[in-house]
Amino acid sequence: MTDKNLARFYTIAQEIWSQLPPQARFRPVEDGKVLARHRAFLEGLTEDLVRGFYDTLFAHPPTRAVFREGERPLREKTLREWYLRTLAGPFNGQYFAWQALVGLVHVRRGVTNAMMAAMWGWLTEEVARRAREALPQGEAEALAGAWRRLAFTVTALISEEYLDAYLEALAEALGKEPQAFRHLAQQEAERLLRELSPR
Ligand code: HEM
Repeated sequence: MTDKNLARFYTIAQEIWSQLPPQARFRPVEDGKVLARHRAFLEGLTEDLVRGFYDTLFAHPPTRAVFREGERPLREKTLREWYLRTLAGPFNGQYFAWQALVGLVHVRRGVTNAMMAAMWGWLTEEVARRAREALPQGEAEALAGAWRRLAFTVTALISEEYLDAYLEALAEALGKEPQAFRHLAQQEAERLLRELSPR
């Protein structure tokens, strides 16, 4: 990837990040410390999480259909690397720019945001359940909270970049400005809602 393209993801990640209220989003310092404190525990979950993630996706026909024949080992490798990099930190601009890029990668393969969000839900529940089984209550709750905030923040980054990539692709194909599409979408939403409930 060229520097220019990478810079685009930094900018987009920053724009999306700034839309999230600080109380609601991931806290790189405090939450990062909690994750770092439990890094060994979380690393110990790697193989179970990677297997469970893909068992879940392969057991359901609409998500199974995303994958090509024989692709699973490669996808497991990507997820393992992503998970271990996440645990290693740091939670900096580069990390969040990469998460935004995942939105674009998913568009290319027809992975919907619904599928992605559901699997973040799955990851959140699994980590919380395993933490409650293994750690003292206070620590388990701290870890579950930090992981959940990361989940929602990364979901926001992936899904917003997904929409951005979609709009840009459409705009590019039709020789229009992506911003004009957003404006058009707002107007259309207004019209559709008026049709649904005429006053
Ligand atoms: C927790 C939710 C998810 C996360 C964090 C995630 C993360 C990632 C990451 C880090 C990559 C590699 C991006 C890169 O090239 O740097 C990737 C690629 C991919 N993901 Fe996901 N993913 C998620 C959900 C899903 C779901 C639900 C599916 C399928 C139903 C999926 C299918 C794929 C595929 C097929 C690729 C490879 C795309 C390509 O390179 O052609 N992902 N994902």
